[in-house]
Amino acid sequence: MPASPHAPAVLDQAPATESFREAALEGLRKPQKHIPAKFHYDARGSELFDQICRLDEYYPTRTEMAIMEEHVGAMAEALGPRAQLVEYGSGSSLKTRILLDHLDDLAAYVPVDISKEHLIESASDLATDYPSLPIQPVCADYTTAFDLPEPPVPAARTVGYYPGSTIGNFQRPDARAFLQHVAETVGPEGGLLIGVDLKKDTEVMKAAYNDAEGVTAAFNKNLLRRMNRELNATFDLDAFEHRVRWNDERGCVESHLRSHIAQTVTVAGETISFDAGETIHTEDSHKYTLDGFAALAGDAGFRVETVWTDERSYFSVQYCTVISESGA
Ligand code: AVJ
Repeated sequence: MPASPHAPAVLDQAPATESFREAALEGLRKPQKHIPAKFHYDARGSELFDQICRLDEYYPTRTEMAIMEEHVGAMAEALGPRAQLVEYGSGSSLKTRILLDHLDDLAAYVPVDISKEHLIESASDLATDYPSLPIQPVCADYTTAFDLPEPPVPAARTVGYYPGSTIGNFQRPDARAFLQHVAETVGPEGGLLIGVDLKKDTEVMKAAYNDAEGVTAAFNKNLLRRMNRELNATFDLDAFEHRVRWNDERGCVESHLRSHIAQTVTVAGETISFDAGETIHTEDSHKYTLDGFAALAGDAGFRVETVWTDERSYFSVQYCTVISESGA
């Protein structure tokens, strides 16, 4: 694909492709079969996710957008002038535009995403619409350490941006480890603006992951399609169904792919057997209370400075700063 004249140069730290094969095989060999949720996002998965964000049942996106629109002035003030804004998992950058519209003096905007095509496309769209904004895309798995590009002008502080309640995909201990890694990346003067989905009526949460149109089912089953294409797998998509359940103990919506029948499937040359009714666990979407998230952030070295929420307290956007070593 030829780069458009506006495409900013990508700092490429993408992991080798065999990591999908290894992760998939490792997960499929376990008693509770499992595939990490981050593998949903190939080109088709990213498109389906964009469709999910427009579904009636999927309240998080529109609620977070409304919170951003209402409070973006206060958020820009919290970030302060000349920040280096690092977005973890930049996707289609819709929420980012709300921020960028109100931050006219950013030292740099650094979108970090594992999907290089998506990254290039959204970075060049942003470059067209924000011609004076230094954009420094990084292609990387942001859950592991990566190098930040040097901003063209010195930044007053580095602020992470992690919208979409993507933090919800981590088990709580992994969420803490991830936030710790963000704290190290942004440094002692740094901050984090993060979208966190909140606990609410169980049916509302479950419906968000099991829409009537079946878009989320297609998004989940795309993992099977992706294994067929990239790992020479032999999944029959009609032999599996999308299933969700609320796990009250862990505080998350679980997504699964359930085999209708007893069957064997080949994945990257390896035979994987399914009992009738057996599932592949494909995603957890953890929901937080405000206290629960503040405790998690605190364990990771962040102090929650400000919480913005909607009328129904469905969703929150929170500004956190790194707790100084001196404890002052
Ligand atoms: C992008 C991880 C926040 O868990 O709500 C949406 C992904 N999966 N529907 C979520 C998702 C199915 C989403 N996150």
